Amino acid sequence: MQIFIDSADVAELADLAATGLVDGVTTNPSLIAKAGKPILPTVKAICDLIPGPISAEAVATDHDGMVAEGRRLMELAPNIVVKLPLTMEGLKACRTLTAEGAQTNVTLCFSAVQALLAAKAGATFISPFLGRLDDGGQDGMALIREIRTIYDNYGYDTEILAASIRTPLHVRDAALAGADCCTIPPAVFRALYKHVLTDIGLENFLKDWKASGQTIL
Ligand code: G3P
Repeated sequence: MQIFIDSADVAELADLAATGLVDGVTTNPSLIAKAGKPILPTVKAICDLIPGPISAEAVATDHDGMVAEGRRLMELAPNIVVKLPLTMEGLKACRTLTAEGAQTNVTLCFSAVQALLAAKAGATFISPFLGRLDDGGQDGMALIREIRTIYDNYGYDTEILAASIRTPLHVRDAALAGADCCTIPPAVFRALYKHVLTDIGLENFLKDWKASGQTIL
């Protein structure tokens, strides 16, 4: 499974990219606003930092506006993925930009039939929002499983990008459900490394090693 980071904080992304485990990045208008810097140089800096797919979202709501914004974003770097909302206009823009050779990420997906439409529109990625479904008392992971089945039934190559991730359990379950990618907030990515038995085990190994008086180098 590809690991993307869900953030527009360039310094944080640089820190995480140094792990060698980051395959791509997703941003959205809220994350860009939170980062507090202009969108175009911010996205360009992220594209330069990480060679994988970098999603940047159009904010127009009509086809022509989204296509114009998508084309502008695509000028920034070859690894740009144009993110578009799952609306009728957004899927029309997805078809237009896909025909022009763009990579696209259809976002704000909350149902399997929405995901079916996105695949038919030629989306490179579909972003089902697990956490927001869970927040509302629905089963976000069931949506991933449904989309996996539908895409496999018909051979769609749109990649399932599990989004709105809240916990390491979401990452585990998305991987078990066959998501192609997972976009993870920085704090959750850091939490993936953690296990109390790892910490206790390492502490004990180091204590025993120190008592042995040995060195490796
Ligand atoms: O980038 C889209 C998605 O991951 C947003 O997550 O936490 O705002 O629901 P969240």
